[in-house]
Amino acid sequence: MLQIKDISKSFEKFLALSNLSFDVPEGKITALIGPNGAGKSTLFNIISGHLRPEKGKIVLKNKDITGLSPHIISSLGIGRTFQIPSLFPKLTVKENIMAAYIVRNGKTFKFFGIDRKSEMAADSIIDKMNLSEVSNTPVTSCSYGVGKELEIAMAMATNPKLLLMDEPTAGIPKTEVGNIIEKIKLLCELEHITVFFTEHDISFVLSIASKIVVLNQGELIFEGVPKEAMESSDVKEIYLGKDA
Ligand SMILES: Nc1ncnc2c1ncn2[C@@H]1O[C@H](COP(=O)(O)OP(=O)(O)OP(=O)(O)O)[C@@H](O)[C@H]1O
Ligand SMILES: [Mg+2]
Repeated sequence: MLQIKDISKSFEKFLALSNLSFDVPEGKITALIGPNGAGKSTLFNIISGHLRPEKGKIVLKNKDITGLSPHIISSLGIGRTFQIPSLFPKLTVKENIMAAYIVRNGKTFKFFGIDRKSEMAADSIIDKMNLSEVSNTPVTSCSYGVGKELEIAMAMATNPKLLLMDEPTAGIPKTEVGNIIEKIKLLCELEHITVFFTEHDISFVLSIASKIVVLNQGELIFEGVPKEAMESSDVKEIYLGKDA
């Protein structure tokens, strides 16, 4: 589905990603893990077109998408959510999803509120994501967890084939994490969306991912199935700490 080919990225003299290569398989859930500052968000920003790499290629279904604008990359079927949710706080949950749908379809907010098509699209996503209880609630009155789910729903409104999620459970109380895991699984299975996400909670990763990629200081240190990751001494040492 997605190939990362020999990607390098520096900020000034600091090398954030170094000759990184791996694949994200179609129809599966792949997790990108690693300590703070490993380069996970930087890689997502390169894939989604928010940053340009110095070197290497990003290939989506055999098409080189390196350096294309975020808007074009979104239109090619890559949706994403951010580590810090970017929502319209005064609008309701449904209005936020409609806004995402409208922007995706190249329209302006002028049509906002009267566009029946975007309303139907939003209703369908609300249904799939099981968000109907909060549909008409302004985002400011929603919990942080609902905000993170809403961000996934907004990414869904862009009709992605591949969904990048940067820490979908960050800042969420443990009691709400299971709910998000279920929804992500559902997306992958029922909607046939390939999921590629970053995460710090290792138990979450093990329960959901079929492939794990581990980064440390911008370098790939492991690529494989979760079970092998847990057995790898490199992963244990670098990701879980020397005493693990
Ligand atoms: N715009 C920038 N300018 C300078 N340095 C940056 C910039 N963005 C990221 N970095 C640096 O690049 C490194 C990788 O950052 P990145 O945010 O990709 O890590 P991460 O793996 O997502 O970490 P976290 O788990 O904390 O989210 C860090 O050392 C960070 O300080
Ligand atoms: Mg990050």
